[in-house]
Amino acid sequence: MVPMKYIIGNWKSHKTSSEIQAWVEIWKLNKKSVQREDLQVVICAPLTGLPVLHELVPDLRIGSQVLSPFGDGAYTGAVSARLVKEYAQFALLGHVERRTYFGETDLIVAQQVAQAIDNNLVPVVAVADKNWGSQLAQLDREQLAKTLVMYEPPEAISTSGSGHAADIQQVKEAVALIQSEYKVKGVLYGGSVNADNIADYMNEPTIAGVVPGAASLDAATFIQLILAY
Ligand code: PGA
Repeated sequence: MVPMKYIIGNWKSHKTSSEIQAWVEIWKLNKKSVQREDLQVVICAPLTGLPVLHELVPDLRIGSQVLSPFGDGAYTGAVSARLVKEYAQFALLGHVERRTYFGETDLIVAQQVAQAIDNNLVPVVAVADKNWGSQLAQLDREQLAKTLVMYEPPEAISTSGSGHAADIQQVKEAVALIQSEYKVKGVLYGGSVNADNIADYMNEPTIAGVVPGAASLDAATFIQLILAY
């Protein structure tokens, strides 16, 4: 069996309902051309966009970019996994921007992973060189087997840091290290992925996929990127 690959777009804090509608119109015209049996395409939208995307493209895989570390209850402002799963199948957790600007810690992210798994959402846990060990050590064997890891050196993010994608050799080494210690569902790469470099990562057998941010915002650019692999 050919192993499954993932392309997980991260819209970050972008897109109103009407902007989503415009994205979807272009996506629908092209989606057949990007379909492959061994590929799952996911869009991680802001929470307000989840119901909009779900209604407009029920066959698109959707992810949240955050999750409450708690279940339903008296947690003002939080959105629990049970509420998210009405619209989504994935949850991108512990992105470095969540850790830096919103104070999310390894412990909080581990609680989010537990919530995701209990509600049948696939957790995509973002880590970098300095925290993959401490983060993954907080998950048990069963949770690890259901978790996709996103390896992203912060300096590789297009909108901050150097803006240069990480060298494929560096990514391969990090992925090998992570996989030597933890049996996870797969390790993806994130950071300045675009149509010019996507094939380097996707064609590497040990890398399970990529997480493009900026390159997922424009539907035509995102489709070009998928077709470039
Ligand atoms: P980028 O973002 O592709 O714009 O670098 C990736 C991410 O941080 O999710």
